[in-house]
Amino acid sequence: MALSICIVLPPYMALLPLLQVIAIFLIIGIIFVPVGLICLQASNRVAEIVHRYDIDCVPNAYRSNKQAYIKDSSISKKCIQKVKVQYHMKAPIYVYYELDNFYQNHRRYIKSRSDKQLRHGLQYTDSSCSPMERSNGLPVVPCGLIAWSLFNDTYDFTRGSMGLMVDRKNISWRSDREHKYGQDVYPFNFQNGSLIGGGKLDPDIPLSNQEDLIVWMRAAALPQFRKLYGVIEEDIQADETITMHITNNYNTYSFGGKKSLVLTTSTWLGGKNDFLGYAYLITGSSSIFLSILFALIHVKIPR
Ligand SMILES: *[C@@H]1O[C@H](CO)[C@@H](O)[C@H](O)[C@H]1NC(C)=O
Repeated sequence: MALSICIVLPPYMALLPLLQVIAIFLIIGIIFVPVGLICLQASNRVAEIVHRYDIDCVPNAYRSNKQAYIKDSSISKKCIQKVKVQYHMKAPIYVYYELDNFYQNHRRYIKSRSDKQLRHGLQYTDSSCSPMERSNGLPVVPCGLIAWSLFNDTYDFTRGSMGLMVDRKNISWRSDREHKYGQDVYPFNFQNGSLIGGGKLDPDIPLSNQEDLIVWMRAAALPQFRKLYGVIEEDIQADETITMHITNNYNTYSFGGKKSLVLTTSTWLGGKNDFLGYAYLITGSSSIFLSILFALIHVKIPR
């Protein structure tokens, strides 16, 4: 309560007559409470499916040793998961992968890249990329740990016997594609070392068109993050069952990371977010509470 007084009550208000203070709190409350309700309602309209699959996608025989499974390239990594959609989902439906316990903001990791190289090419391979600057004596493009650890799970979707198209174009920021990644810079000597960190890149496609890489290279600030994989441009009806065809390639087992697949619709609030609504509600209702409190004080102790 003291905190909300601090936020809502600027010092000069202490000089205002009590009745005005009461009125101001009341007005704040009357505005904030409905705004909070509207935000919460908008957030509830966002139909969202979050399906964690990193454990379910490991065959039973390997559950106690998931690393053995993920590192053995002779075992198929294909994995089928079904989810039942509870609410009608209106297109566009955004497909994200969500990682948890993955520290993309680790100091050594986040610096291990060369923005000049991404833009202008091989000649700008420099020590900022260490320890993934060169491989077998040759420069690596794109260099650095972030690129090297590129996420490499893939997803396809079907409903019934029909495919559900995922549009994988324009998932990255346009400004990134146009200004930060070279149209004439091609992957070179990438993922050629003895230790494979993640996804491979088609050496015939310039970096400016490698959208999965561009999305991945925007390092997340928090250990739990989502990255856009694609967009489904068809509605999904309530009670439909969607089959997810996952290739579970990426090794999060070595550091206890979690992987989830997220399908979400978005509203004007931009995704599911209850926090904003609750913040307004709490601020609004404590303002009303304070105005009532002050009103009581005013009645009991008239000036
Ligand atoms: C995917 O990434 C993992 C590392 O997380 C690597 O071991 C594996 O070889 C990669 N697989 C493919 C198909 O790129």
